[in-house]
Amino acid sequence: MAIERTLVLIKPDGQKRKLTGLVIDRLDHAGFEMIATRIVPVTRKLAEAHYEALKDKPFFQNLINFFVPTKNFKILAIVYQGENVISEVRKVVGATNPEAADPSSIRGSFGRISSVTGIMENVVHASANAEDAEREIALWFRKEDLPE
Ligand code: CMP
Repeated sequence: MAIERTLVLIKPDGQKRKLTGLVIDRLDHAGFEMIATRIVPVTRKLAEAHYEALKDKPFFQNLINFFVPTKNFKILAIVYQGENVISEVRKVVGATNPEAADPSSIRGSFGRISSVTGIMENVVHASANAEDAEREIALWFRKEDLPE
């Protein structure tokens, strides 16, 4: 099995609710190796590029507004590396819809669906597959921030 890399972002709801430490702790206890971190100022342009595949969804603008709550908002981005790390991290994180996520997962424990916007406020983003992981890591990290 090849060694993979995956991107984890602490989303604005996770940061607002002080869940950053808990997310890192759960991923740490699951045995994942963190190889890079970066606190990134998140512009609408970056958010729109990150969620490009969803640009035709009816909830896209609400998603961007949720992801970029203020002008100078910063997001903690983390890269984990290991065998099967993309799918293994997603198991710990849980399903996108917090109401469908395993209650023991991060999203199942702490996520919610906004009653105002309908956005799934699910605490953390984790890359879905190898192609997304490569694209997303390149968006959030400079080459020199990452080990070879
Ligand atoms: P994330 O894993 O970061 O990737 C896309 C995000 O869009 C997702 O988490 C949710 O925050 C949000 N999302 C995905 N599908 C829906 C949906 N059907 N309704 C509302 N929000 C969604």
